[in-house]
Amino acid sequence: MKLVRLNQEYPLTDFDCGDSDLNDFLFEDAKPFLEKRVANTFILEDEGRIAAYFYLLNDKISRLEITNSRWKKIKDSFPESKRFRSYPSIKIGRFAVSTNYRGQRLGSELMTMIKVLLNTNQNYSAFRFITVDAYISAIPFYQWNGFKELTKKDEDEYTRLMYFDMMEID
Ligand SMILES: CC(C)(COP(=O)(O)OP(=O)(O)OC[C@H]1O[C@@H](n2cnc3c(N)ncnc32)[C@H](O)[C@@H]1OP(=O)(O)O)[C@@H](O)C(=O)NCCC(=O)NCCS
Repeated sequence: MKLVRLNQEYPLTDFDCGDSDLNDFLFEDAKPFLEKRVANTFILEDEGRIAAYFYLLNDKISRLEITNSRWKKIKDSFPESKRFRSYPSIKIGRFAVSTNYRGQRLGSELMTMIKVLLNTNQNYSAFRFITVDAYISAIPFYQWNGFKELTKKDEDEYTRLMYFDMMEID
């Protein structure tokens, strides 16, 4: 398998993760989002077939959007002089594994790949956390991969904001 960065020439073939929004994003939005510089999509290829995809964009964890106790935990991991109102992050905008590859730990392997990739390519802009708006059904998957909920405010919504602290892999 190999990870390929989407460009305008990339031939998008069949992909089905069982969720039409996530399927449609790949075929309809990924290239326009790339052109408008709002999302970089990466594709995990298996002998020419699309096994999974995700996209990345810049983000921040802001004091205003998270629970006080969680904010305290985050803030306390920085020295007094380095405490800010928000901390730089990278967001996984979409993350989907083809139904043909499900339940084989491919999603978790890809998540580890993302963490390693981001950790070894931090030469330009700094970031501390990875964030994701997790579908409720996918929360156990993100927890399995070391992500935690950030707030209780989104408990009744169809996605929940979760984060992973990059210091955990240093
Ligand atoms: C969520 C998704 C990415 C998981 O990919 P995967 O390759 O099947 O996941 P893994 O095999 O690495 O799962 C690792 C662990 O996460 C948990 N997990 C994964 N998917 C889960 C699900 N749908 N429900 C509950 N737990 C799940 C399990 O504990 C699993 O461990 P187990 O195999 O011992 O049971 C995949 O199901 C998917 O693409 N779903 C549709 C799109 C989606 O929901 N994307 C997330 C958008 S936020």
